[in-house]
Amino acid sequence: MIRAAITAVAGNLPETVLSNKDLEKIVDTTDEWIITRTGIKERRIEKDLNKATSDVAVPAVLELCRKRGISPEEIDLLICGTVTPDMMFPSTSNLICAKIGAKNAWGFDLTAACSGFIFGISTGSQFIMTGKYKKVVVVGIDLMTRILNWEDRSTCVIFGDGGGAVLLEPTEEEVGIMDFVLHADGNGGTNLNMRGGGSRFPASHDTVENKMHYVYQEGQSVFKHAIYSMAEVSADIMKRNNLKAEDITWLVPHQANKRIVDGTANKMGIGPEKVMMNIERYGNTTAGTIPLLLWDYEKQLKKGDNLVISAFGGGFTWGSVFVKWAYDGSKYGK
Ligand code: ACO
Repeated sequence: MIRAAITAVAGNLPETVLSNKDLEKIVDTTDEWIITRTGIKERRIEKDLNKATSDVAVPAVLELCRKRGISPEEIDLLICGTVTPDMMFPSTSNLICAKIGAKNAWGFDLTAACSGFIFGISTGSQFIMTGKYKKVVVVGIDLMTRILNWEDRSTCVIFGDGGGAVLLEPTEEEVGIMDFVLHADGNGGTNLNMRGGGSRFPASHDTVENKMHYVYQEGQSVFKHAIYSMAEVSADIMKRNNLKAEDITWLVPHQANKRIVDGTANKMGIGPEKVMMNIERYGNTTAGTIPLLLWDYEKQLKKGDNLVISAFGGGFTWGSVFVKWAYDGSKYGK
């Protein structure tokens, strides 16, 4: 049986740091409120308006190629999970491929908000498993600060910019993407969205005046759905694969809120030492959080480690992916 293995991971973050203290000068908030409610201390912001999402993705994808010693021309397919594409069309995936010289690849953007990366690796893995492709790149990246209302303290403190990418390649070993469970419920679209700029509300003076080109979130309602659904789907993937808490090496949870992560880990019966976390440094980078976690923890990952990767996001979208790590990360990593 051919499986899709993650054979390399890379990330990229803008240099500018925006701390909670900096935000205290912009909106009526405090460092203490943000840390207690979310776990976030600082986030990155791409201040250079000449740089769009594809520009921030390019260094990560080139780093992947360098790590595996491959040319961008060898990439068959590039999927980009993002809700902050460079523009409505062409797809950011196409723009990344053009910038790196991935002349033989096709690709598309995948709009699943914070679940974009797990939807992406699940989709990409199918092209590997059928034998159709040998090299699939999955990018998860967002420049959330470009769609934030800096007068709305309940959203502007949560998000940040950045993301990363993984390379999927075929393997016949007992490693790689072993299983996934994915869900979506469009009824959640009223609780978390960016309404302006599409065919429902094309850009106009009204959409700008009514702040419809910004993230809108009903925090408490999203929180309740997120904490329940992420815990349930993580327990579900464990049950389907006969995984007990002691079998799991790492939980890799979307970084939306430390309290949601703690709730998920509790339901799975695993302690904080097995939970990848970096929300305190980067905030919620939407589709970017999971590749950034894998990149940050790569050095600690060993072949055969059992990872449960879980996410919940706008849509609503949510799911879990069971991955057996395919290589020794100690020679790479940061
Ligand atoms: N600083 C100080 N006070 C604030 C701030 C702030 N930054 N933001 C809100 N408050 C106030 C509110 O006005 C409210 O005040 P009130 O009681 O006087 O009315 C009070 O704090 C409590 O507000 P809540 O919204 O109830 O705060 P909550 O504890 O729910 O935390 C948060 C808000 C962090 C947004 C939380 O609801 C959350 O994490 N939600 C889920 C986020 C998520 O998972 N999103 C999905 C992924 S994102 C994506 O897909 C794009």
